[in-house]
Amino acid sequence: MSLRLSLVRAAAGIRLTAGLLGASYPRDDHTNITGAVLAKVGSDLHQQPNHPICIMATLMRDHFGPLYTYHDALSPVVSPAANFDSLGFEKDHPGRSLSDSYYINKDTMMRTHTSAHQVELLQKGHRNFLVVADVYRRDEIDSTHYPVFHQVEGVRVFDRGNVEAVDSSNLASGPPNASADNPRQACYTTVDSEAVEWHLKASLEGMVRSIFAAAQQAQGIATTQESELKMRWVDGYFPFTSPSYELEVWYEGKWMEVLGCGVIQQHILEQANLHNSVGWAFGIGLERLAMAFFRIPDIRLFWSQDPRFLGQFSAGKVTHFEPFSRYPSCTKDVSFWLPEAKDGEEGFHPNDLFELVRDVAGDLVEDVKLTDSFVHPKTKRESHCYRITYRSMDRNVTNEEINVLQDQVRQLAPERLDVQLR
Ligand code: PHE
Repeated sequence: MSLRLSLVRAAAGIRLTAGLLGASYPRDDHTNITGAVLAKVGSDLHQQPNHPICIMATLMRDHFGPLYTYHDALSPVVSPAANFDSLGFEKDHPGRSLSDSYYINKDTMMRTHTSAHQVELLQKGHRNFLVVADVYRRDEIDSTHYPVFHQVEGVRVFDRGNVEAVDSSNLASGPPNASADNPRQACYTTVDSEAVEWHLKASLEGMVRSIFAAAQQAQGIATTQESELKMRWVDGYFPFTSPSYELEVWYEGKWMEVLGCGVIQQHILEQANLHNSVGWAFGIGLERLAMAFFRIPDIRLFWSQDPRFLGQFSAGKVTHFEPFSRYPSCTKDVSFWLPEAKDGEEGFHPNDLFELVRDVAGDLVEDVKLTDSFVHPKTKRESHCYRITYRSMDRNVTNEEINVLQDQVRQLAPERLDVQLR
């Protein structure tokens, strides 16, 4: 791990391998991608027929059928223009920051969502399409967060005045609702706005019913209960849709947020010269649903090469994961003083520590939690203590082996994060 990282860091440019066609990119002051994350590029879990991630994506693909072109091999390396600007993200949107996103350099980044391909595919002439892809975000470390995960994006475009009518009698929701806070776009007639909102709701409720039916089959629940799945629509906000919604499903005693969606902002269609069109888009994360459907307790398992994991799943079937024995964990604390805030700099962000730990320990890190923080009454400096839980998914780790990793964390933290160990 550290060897690969030092090779990447030592080079004047970043060389991306395998799936990224061996392209080379110059480093600059935006570069924050790490070796541990680069190593995941090209894994393409969503293309392996017997992998739970691909099984989930295929359920959605089969539901939508051949009317929607299917794109599962678009490069994860995109421009901030594609990932943010083309979609109308504000200049100061937090998603753009170095603490939230992985940059290769200031003009090149890892896509943070499949929406990065909306404009590109519309410009290529696609009207109805699905994108399945790996997406990258800097985030916390625990059993449900991983720097790489997968999304499916869906887009459907109609000519104005010609939105396909849907049978709304079966829908969980009442009539489409928009409000001052979640407005319709003034450029559309009320008839088009309502029709596209109905079509969106019917299409996405239909998709969610059919994928949850597959999960219920795995639990041995008769699919006749499919229509009883409880769903609700809540207002959402995305810079690239209006009105925007989230769809939630009542699942195992809780409301579970399943997808984000909305009516495509006209400025996006305009970029593809679609001046007389109206459409909807949605995005859905695959890991959380797959963890629920397949009963997978830790998100790292999706990346396991262990045949005891991979051998349990087969294409087209949702089956419950049979855990193999859980190996013991090893816990270590690290405490430090944060750097003093400097004007115009982003300063310390917990994601910086999470990244460093991932880079040193790879998939041996299970969880990192802030356990204590305080401000020194005299110096006003802030101290953080983090508890790092190490555990392997497939073997026993020794205390000596973890001490080596923890020493590396302690050595690199002052160098890279400008913190002072306590
Ligand atoms: N890209 C959004 C996300 O990652 C989801 C989304 C897609 C919302 C399409 C609306 C339309 O959260």
